[in-house]
Amino acid sequence: MRRAGDELGVARDELLVTTKIPGRDHGYDATMASAEQSLATLGLERIDLYLIHWPNPSVGKYLETWQAMVALREGGLVGSIGVSNFTEAMLTRLIDTTGVTPAVNQVEMHPYFPQGQLRAFHRDRGIRTESWSPLARRTELLSEPVISQIAADLGVSPTQVVVRWHVQLGSTPIPKSADPARQVENADVFGFTLTDEQVAAISALERGRLWDGDPDTHEEM
Ligand SMILES: NC(=O)c1ccc[n+]([C@@H]2O[C@H](COP(=O)([O-])OP(=O)(O)OC[C@H]3O[C@@H](n4cnc5c(N)ncnc54)[C@H](OP(=O)(O)O)[C@@H]3O)[C@@H](O)[C@H]2O)c1
Repeated sequence: MRRAGDELGVARDELLVTTKIPGRDHGYDATMASAEQSLATLGLERIDLYLIHWPNPSVGKYLETWQAMVALREGGLVGSIGVSNFTEAMLTRLIDTTGVTPAVNQVEMHPYFPQGQLRAFHRDRGIRTESWSPLARRTELLSEPVISQIAADLGVSPTQVVVRWHVQLGSTPIPKSADPARQVENADVFGFTLTDEQVAAISALERGRLWDGDPDTHEEM
């Protein structure tokens, strides 16, 4: 069987493969079946990080889904388990009910929506923040004067400034690029440091969510 990484000449244990449970597969048995399906589709024996994509509170099954994920982890089919788009209240309910803390909460985060309060909660509970749409899907973010100025001062690109801002705030950004050169650029952020003032100036761009993604109301199947 061909395995992830074969065509790249990369060893399997150097790859961290993440996938998510879609809303249509919430529930204990459906989650078990969904994991088997994902493993077959990916051609893998183990998913490294498995997330609940959206909590879908009106469906009311994210606790059962989480219990199935705990069982998948105990069975070795999944390495780490986490969630995405969970609020502080949802995380508290999950932890208090099951006693198992998610390794990760993947949430909308970029300089327009720095998620200060949720990040503080994550820090207290030992949950890793992952930033989705970390570049705010490019929008006008990359030409914001404050970011252009810092990039020029440091001799790096505006994108690198934004990726570095996430890293210094303790989050793991997952910028998407279809372009190999930009993928390399986006990962090359460990040779410079932003000052506390530069981090604060970028965070001052805060204005709120950019899309209609409030986890209390937005649901995806
Ligand atoms: N958990 C969730 O609910 C959720 C929701 C939304 C997104 N996500 C995930 O988050 C990840 C990233 O989010 P996203 O794609 O929405 O937004 P993003 O990473 O903020 O922005 C992607 C855009 O930035 C451009 N870009 C990337 N690197 C660049 C560079 N160095 N210079 C200039 N432009 C650059 C890309 O174009 P090119 O491709 O042309 O480089 C693309 O148009 C994806 O994996 C996505 O699946 C998760």
